[in-house]
Amino acid sequence: MVNVAIFASGNGTNAENIAKYFSVNSDIKITLIVSNRSDAYVHERAKKLCIPSITYNKSDFADGSAILKTLKDYEIDFIVLAGFLVKVPESILLSYPDRIVNIHPALLPKYGGKGMYGDHVHQAVKDSGEAQSGITIHYVNENYDEGNIIFQSYCDVLPNDTPDDIANKVHSLEYEHYPKIIEKTIKNTPLKIK
Ligand code: GAR
Repeated sequence: MVNVAIFASGNGTNAENIAKYFSVNSDIKITLIVSNRSDAYVHERAKKLCIPSITYNKSDFADGSAILKTLKDYEIDFIVLAGFLVKVPESILLSYPDRIVNIHPALLPKYGGKGMYGDHVHQAVKDSGEAQSGITIHYVNENYDEGNIIFQSYCDVLPNDTPDDIANKVHSLEYEHYPKIIEKTIKNTPLKIK
């Protein structure tokens, strides 16, 4: 069994979609949800899915050691960021080399970096008059949205689309592709880690 932790800061629709995908006939299991916000709706979803969820504060994320200990206690092999808005501590990056992935709601390298998340991204895509947007799934390194790209998928942006319309198209791509790409990536990764 490969144990996966999902890190999420907000609503958690991707976290739920991923957990449901792996809940049937899989040797991959979503074992833990980690958040930086105790009021994030992802905790309600975790409860319904019977997955433990834990909140860590700013200083825990700056230091990393308490979170790393929990990841080891749960025997976590692989980490998935799904709408997670905090930098992953260096100690966790070092313990999980090429074992942490993120999804970004645009076509990186455009519209990435600090402060570029959720609706800010879709508004920027709209303001720039882009004809396309999409999703980027990438490895996580020490810089926001700069790790090696694993997968991208595109959607059209029509002239009358609002940022909400773009968000809906992007979310559909996320739900369709993220679980499958996580599965493929894990199968291509030499686990168990130490
Ligand atoms: C998703 O669209 C994800 O791509 C984005 O936040 C949303 C979270 O939705 N992530 C980022 O913007 C990271 N820079 P969810 O909480 O409903 O899964």
